Amino acid sequence: VLDIRVDRQADRPIFLQIADELERLTVDGTEGLRLPPSRDLAARLGVNRNTVVSAYQELIARGRATARTGRGTFLRPPAGARAPWSEAVRDDAFREPRDLHGAPDADYSFAANFPPEDLLPAEALRRALDDVLRREGARLLTYGSPQGYRPLREWIAGEMRRQGAEVPVDEVIITTGSQQAIDLAARALLGPGDRVLLEEPGFPLAIAAFRSHGARVEGLPSDGDGLQTDRLARAVEEAPARLIYLVPDFHNPTGACLSEARRRQVLDLAHRHGVPILEDDSSAWLRFCGAPLPSLRGLDAHGLTIFASTFSKMLMPGVRIGWICAPAPIRDRLLALKQLTDCTTSLLLQAAVHEFCRDGGLDEHLRRVRAAYRERRDALLGAMRRHFPAEVRWTEPEGGLVLWVSLPAGLDGRGVAAEARTRGIACNPGDLFFIDAAPRGHLRLTFAGMPPARIRQGARLLGDVLRGLCERSAAGRDGGEAALLV
Ligand SMILES: Cc1ncc(COP(=O)(O)O)c(C=O)c1O
Repeated sequence: VLDIRVDRQADRPIFLQIADELERLTVDGTEGLRLPPSRDLAARLGVNRNTVVSAYQELIARGRATARTGRGTFLRPPAGARAPWSEAVRDDAFREPRDLHGAPDADYSFAANFPPEDLLPAEALRRALDDVLRREGARLLTYGSPQGYRPLREWIAGEMRRQGAEVPVDEVIITTGSQQAIDLAARALLGPGDRVLLEEPGFPLAIAAFRSHGARVEGLPSDGDGLQTDRLARAVEEAPARLIYLVPDFHNPTGACLSEARRRQVLDLAHRHGVPILEDDSSAWLRFCGAPLPSLRGLDAHGLTIFASTFSKMLMPGVRIGWICAPAPIRDRLLALKQLTDCTTSLLLQAAVHEFCRDGGLDEHLRRVRAAYRERRDALLGAMRRHFPAEVRWTEPEGGLVLWVSLPAGLDGRGVAAEARTRGIACNPGDLFFIDAAPRGHLRLTFAGMPPARIRQGARLLGDVLRGLCERSAAGRDGGEAALLV
């Protein structure tokens, strides 16, 4: 029934022509039509299957189709047939809001990717608030500059210089957490159909942010040294990309660091193909062993890197203070968008965080929390070695707050997390971190949330869960009950 014409002589890429034709169908009133499987349409049109897959992704990015896992891709009804707001709600971009609280009601939480309450310096922040209010008074209760509190921006530029990245103070914009920095970069750079390359598994709120601006997000594999740069090379050679998003240090969810050689390769590829990089540095300050690696921003000789960071993981997420640095033209755009979004980040809290951090205050705090996180990571690794089935694998990060568990064949992360929850243990199933959210054999465990003794108890119980599920899975494979867990 689909009447689609493709002009092979035209300049417009074939996948876009197919997407245009399909979009025309939605406009003409073909409501809720299920598109043929990509293989079938490709055979009918005499094109490569990947071309049709790209056309469907393009259509999804334009908000004109929806992918339903296991059921196919459906055209979206034309705007007139729907409630007026449904046009704005792209269900492929926004899944249900995430619970960012890390399951506080669990007996054992391996789910919270942020500092635990026993390491949050509440009393010191109260003193800092007192001090800045006494010193600067009501001025701190005004809006302040959209770019942020100057002493904090100066402090950040100084710290970045100490870490090897020369960033002029004028480049630093304070944001409401690094999530806002990611969203501002996406708004500044991305439009419908733009291709974003990132590591998969990856940070779900970045993936969703890019998609919410209509981008097509493409995942590339990573290993113990971070993103596989040979795959990145292939991807940027294949087709133009608009952005490369990377978490080079203590990646969420794998905990991996991008090796220095690969950092240089990424910059070289980005330079040769003219693709900007968004570097998400959110956990980099939490290195507790191994040698520090230079940031992409520090190595970048061509001004291609937008750098985003945050106080959330190194200090506290509740103040919602992060920052973004970018070279002049894009800096101006980010600043304009920042003002549109929320005028400015709380001046009072910026001043209090600056008061806390200055004169070595943050260094002292970091010494304390790094030692605690190292002890907690070691407690978890030790307990996993002792109690997890031999077939389970995991990463051993040198910092940050998370590690990544790979389950044996026959177990999926969702099933394990659900079973663990019945025993009072919270952890994140790995599928949350994949672009299409299909079930997969992984878990993300955070090691920050509990003192070492409780981590050991929780990991022992999780080991019991895993052993039980492995045994049931093996029994199923031996021909007994149907496979329960795949
Ligand atoms: C990789 C990564 N980037 C950014 C963020 C956003 O953090 P915030 O907005 O609190 O700075 C997080 C939070 O979990 C994260 O894991």
